[in-house]
Amino acid sequence: AIENQSLYQHYDFPVGVAIEPYQTAFFNENEPIIRTQFDRLTASNRFKADFIHPEENTFFWTQADLIIEYAEANNKSVHGHTLIWHEQLPTWMENFKGNRNEWEEMMKKHITTIASRYKGKVKAWDVVNEAFLEDGTLRPNIWYKNMGSSYIEKAFQYAHEADPGALLFYNDFNLALRPAKRKAALDLMKQLKFKGLPIHGIGMQSHIAISYPSELDLALAMKEITDAGFKLHISELDVAVNGNSSSSFKLNSELLQRQAKRYKFVFENYSKLEKQYQYGITIWGINDGESWIPGYFNREDYPLLFDETFSPKPAYCALINN
Ligand code: G3I
Repeated sequence: AIENQSLYQHYDFPVGVAIEPYQTAFFNENEPIIRTQFDRLTASNRFKADFIHPEENTFFWTQADLIIEYAEANNKSVHGHTLIWHEQLPTWMENFKGNRNEWEEMMKKHITTIASRYKGKVKAWDVVNEAFLEDGTLRPNIWYKNMGSSYIEKAFQYAHEADPGALLFYNDFNLALRPAKRKAALDLMKQLKFKGLPIHGIGMQSHIAISYPSELDLALAMKEITDAGFKLHISELDVAVNGNSSSSFKLNSELLQRQAKRYKFVFENYSKLEKQYQYGITIWGINDGESWIPGYFNREDYPLLFDETFSPKPAYCALINN
């Protein structure tokens, strides 16, 4: 039985998972996996603006609270995802009319209300998510268009004021695959930190595949981020097996072995980093049947550690045989 093994107990850094609140119900088949295999939880959706702040003067806490309460009852830490992003915005926010000051006030209220409610309960926040484009320029999202590039430092400032004890992260994807994007993100974060802003870490979303990025590029990205003095979160880890999106795809044991090797590489390379920079690794989902990848890319895929029947896959076994 899965309860006889524990993934997180094999590592001396936290091993987290992204979940939906319903998965924590005691009769849900994901629940024993969450409880026994992971010691950190992230809501895949429930702290995002469209869910938690659906109207300008309405916050909806019920679903986010469920995750916090489950975490408290089961001794897990919570990683907060995410305060400022360009996706999953409520309509009122997308259509907000105001000058720069009014946008700042609106953003401040959003961040302050959420971060103060969960003060001391959320260990760290993804304060700003995906602010850069692949070429390293700033993404022209609603925050940038209405507040200019200073929206990023303002967001960190407001989050810090609301919960001075929380660790604050910048989180983005393809930081290993795209050196120009990584450099731009690191340069800005170093610059803001030098100015005195409370920026503690970088989240490397790791939606990777069996064939890319290379091990060399993954290791280089981890090294550059920690060499710059930031804690590193391997956030959003999953390993796609259907890399070329073929419709005639067949899962086989060779693909599962290659997937296992990728997971193992990420964990082993991460283990070698200096302790003070190891914030943890978060896997983006529990079982293949509920991964975001098939729906989002409209293809078959099996990116996680457990299959649709909640059985551990070769990747899971590789991670606990260390
Ligand atoms: O809640 C509605 C439900 O009412 C409706 O019936 C249903 C029908 O489609 O949709 C539900 O919302 C979905 C939501 O997940 C909750 O399940 C959205 O359609 C769906 O788009 C949304 O997908 C999420 C995606 O972010 C949105 O961009 C994924 O679950 C989530 O895993 C994914 O996570 C992101 C990270 O936050 C940031 N980095 C990339 C990563 C993958 O896209």
